[in-house]
Amino acid sequence: MKLTPEEKRMYEGREGKAVQTAMEILVALGEIYDAEKMVPVSSVQVSGVSYHNLGDAGLEFLEELAVDGKVRVLTTLNPAGMDLEEWGKLGISEEFARNQFRVINAFAKMGITISCTCTPYLVGNLPRFNEHVAWGESSAVVFANSVLGARTNREGGPSALAAALTGRTPAYGLHLDENRLPEIHVEVKTALKNGTSDFSALGWVLGKRFGAKIPFITGIKSATVDELKSLCAALPTYGGPSIFHIKGVTPNKVKKPKEKATITEEDIKEAYQALNEPEEDVDFVAIGCPHASINELKRIAELLKGKHVKTEFWIATARQTKELADRAGYSKIIEEAGAKIACDTCMAVAPLKGRFRVMAIDSAKGCYYARGSNNFKTRFGTIEQCVEAAITGKWGVKYKG
Ligand code: F3S
Repeated sequence: MKLTPEEKRMYEGREGKAVQTAMEILVALGEIYDAEKMVPVSSVQVSGVSYHNLGDAGLEFLEELAVDGKVRVLTTLNPAGMDLEEWGKLGISEEFARNQFRVINAFAKMGITISCTCTPYLVGNLPRFNEHVAWGESSAVVFANSVLGARTNREGGPSALAAALTGRTPAYGLHLDENRLPEIHVEVKTALKNGTSDFSALGWVLGKRFGAKIPFITGIKSATVDELKSLCAALPTYGGPSIFHIKGVTPNKVKKPKEKATITEEDIKEAYQALNEPEEDVDFVAIGCPHASINELKRIAELLKGKHVKTEFWIATARQTKELADRAGYSKIIEEAGAKIACDTCMAVAPLKGRFRVMAIDSAKGCYYARGSNNFKTRFGTIEQCVEAAITGKWGVKYKG
């Protein structure tokens, strides 16, 4: 790999131990993927924040880097294992909290913004078209590449941190034009009328049917940011690539590929069937995978107004988004109904195993982690169906107010 004089200084340890470790990681990665050079990045999103996933080895690695490591570009963080302010309310143990704070302190010492959200693009880490960034968190990576037209590979925790400490990443994969081109034209022949859950189901279908092939999607006239973030979360979770294109919706200018496939209503139904288990009683409802936007909090507040929930109900979101919801009065309505707004964390990275049996959610990614990490059964449907399940404790039973 060709390194600039400044990159060589970093590699030789003349800018400190943490920077040297970081440059070694990036050079090793670049050599594996045949990168010719490094590219400067304008921002980083670091995943691997929950102590639940990091364990003691991960914590020690971070504390070592934090001895002299300082980030050089805007660096934001993925969700942690708990709400950093109200962890007690979510049933988190003191021991877990102590270790989670050590992790957070190490990140803070490196100058990382303690955003703790998987939607950095909703809270100020918003790269522009063609900007190179180094992001972890699969859903945010797909959003950056596809919806924003920025360029990032799907970084792991160490490679994202290394990019933050050096301001560089190896130029390979999705940083290069030739790897961003669509490989299959997918015509969607059904109206996706059910908001986030339909787009999440579409991500399930694309990943399951076409694997890592980059889709060029037609037949979708418009999509909201919330719908797109749902698709971005489901697609890589079920084996899809870290970029997609939707004609007339996403900004990358690409040509329609020759290979063609169609997605029909039957395919979307199949996703709903696969993500739903035949359980009537629900004891946990989670919305906010990826983290809920202010618009989603508004909708949930409208649905919960004057009602009371029977199940545990978490709405995961960024702290800044909750602050907006506080000002708008949405948080009060949600909390008066007995639901909890969980900031800084989510149902996949919090230590929830054994606490619930059946979870309802509008996210296919959420179903994957609920089943895989926590052994929950899942119910999958619209935000409206999920809120109804929280109120009644049953799936598919209409609330009678
Ligand atoms: Fe975000 Fe957690 Fe879902 S990190 S995308 S809310 S699994």
